[in-house]
Amino acid sequence: MQSQDFRDAMAKLAGGVVVVSVRTAEGYRGLTASTLISVSADPPLLLVGLEHGSITRQAVVDTREFNVSVLTRTQEFLAERFAGRAPAVDGKWREVRHRLGTNGIPLIEDCAAWLECEVIAVHPAGDHDVCIAGVKVAQAGTGNPLILWDRTFWTIQ
Ligand SMILES: Cc1cc2nc3c(=O)[nH]c(=O)nc-3n(C[C@H](O)[C@H](O)[C@H](O)COP(=O)(O)O)c2cc1C
Repeated sequence: MQSQDFRDAMAKLAGGVVVVSVRTAEGYRGLTASTLISVSADPPLLLVGLEHGSITRQAVVDTREFNVSVLTRTQEFLAERFAGRAPAVDGKWREVRHRLGTNGIPLIEDCAAWLECEVIAVHPAGDHDVCIAGVKVAQAGTGNPLILWDRTFWTIQ
């Protein structure tokens, strides 16, 4: 099985886009992720796959906590920025409208939803780690979702 065949097939699986945010010694940090899924409702658990080379993944493993901001269609530029494809965000997130969660980690304003998470397990899985976390705070927002499908951003009306 060719890796490219797998990538091409998985590109046809539509999914939401989030920013996973963390606190590091150098300031706040975040990455764009499309691997977040709900695992359990009671207790509330989710998982996210984080690349081995990612600075955010290292902070998630070290600090055992992170937040999730579920992006809307109008936030495509933020998805690009937190994926390293547009100007980097500074450690104080001065250019990104945000508030701090109860855990002191940033949550992006005007998102479709927000989650505050505590890591309970990290499992190595190929070139990623699967991070399973308990959800301590969850809040729904508004707005049309940002959807990744066929390597392009879409939305529903
Ligand atoms: C649409 C999209 C989805 C992504 N999904 C993930 C993901 O689920 N997990 C991951 O580790 N990286 C994912 N990435 C790549 C990271 O956002 C990117 O490597 C980022 O620059 C890592 O930043 P960091 O090293 O500061 O943590 C995705 C990128 C894009 C554009």
